[in-house]
Amino acid sequence: MTKKIAVLPGDGIGPEIVAEAIKVLNVLKKDGLDIDFEYGLIGGAAYDETGTPFPDETLALSKSADAILLGAVGGYKWESLDISVRPEKGLLAIRSALNLFANLRPAILYPQLADASTLKPEVVAGLDLMIVRELTGGIYFGQPRGIRTLENGEKEGFNTLVYRESEVQRIGKVAFDIAQKRQGRLCSVDKANVLESTELWRETMIELAKDYGDVELSHMYVDNAAMQLVRAPKQFDVMVTTNMFGDILSDCASMLTGSIGMLPSASLDESGKGMYEPIHGSAPDIAGKNIANPLATILSVAMMLRYTLNEAKMADRIELAVGKVLDKGLRTADIYSDGMTKIGTSEMGDAVVAAL
Ligand code: IPM
Ligand code: MG
Repeated sequence: MTKKIAVLPGDGIGPEIVAEAIKVLNVLKKDGLDIDFEYGLIGGAAYDETGTPFPDETLALSKSADAILLGAVGGYKWESLDISVRPEKGLLAIRSALNLFANLRPAILYPQLADASTLKPEVVAGLDLMIVRELTGGIYFGQPRGIRTLENGEKEGFNTLVYRESEVQRIGKVAFDIAQKRQGRLCSVDKANVLESTELWRETMIELAKDYGDVELSHMYVDNAAMQLVRAPKQFDVMVTTNMFGDILSDCASMLTGSIGMLPSASLDESGKGMYEPIHGSAPDIAGKNIANPLATILSVAMMLRYTLNEAKMADRIELAVGKVLDKGLRTADIYSDGMTKIGTSEMGDAVVAAL
């Protein structure tokens, strides 16, 4: 049966990079991949048309689709809007509405890019790390939240960091399962020395580990984890952490690979349905200039093929094609180094298509 892909380009460089990923999917379509695309609005683009960053039509489209491909949301233009209708709210709303609690953010260093990292090549060479971020709970969604005025007239902003045992268990299981298929090492990142919510997180992970005799579980405080990521990142196989810690650590991990423009992500629900997006933002400063790196989005398509469409071979083909393009010395500006050939967004998409 034909699988439906909801395509939500969003804002800034979103439409440009998504267009390149669609080129790649169209090649696979010719080779027998049975999919159809349906486009929808999200983020600032949706706000401009409908007054909300996550319209009901987009919710319906996303629910009916087998998988979702998302570009990026946000931009200067919408920064002064009320927080309830800002583009980022659209992204948080779709994650929550579809129960996409498991966010997989792999940080793999293509050997060709060892020089593009700001860290020494020997520190990052061979890096292959998977960050599993909890995506629909924690301080991003906890109630109560808001800005209130105290009796003395002073304003106070507040958020709530809350995790239920069941929420920790389900993200824990995803992370243990992934660790089992990799090197069998899972590091759970928390702040259990200060925050009760992550004390429970740690206890729950220890309890879960009893079902995974073949996975070696360790624990690390988030401040130390941030340091270890830049000191000796290859000590990690799989990391599992809360929504906010995962947001921060995954940006940090991305630079190990040379550029945030290289990192794809998958956000999965309990049944494996997923939304696929690059981990970078909408980069409004370079939007429309044909200089953004589309590889993170193209690699997100590979994740879609692997995790939702069950087409592992096609996923391999995309990843190999990206490797070939890098072998040829073709680079967008963010991963450019001396001696390489600098190309634009659409040329990079074409190069991947040619390598396929
Ligand atoms: C991410 C982004 C989002 C987040 C923003 C855009 C809401 O930074 O996907 O990492 O904080 O989750
Ligand atoms: Mg982020």
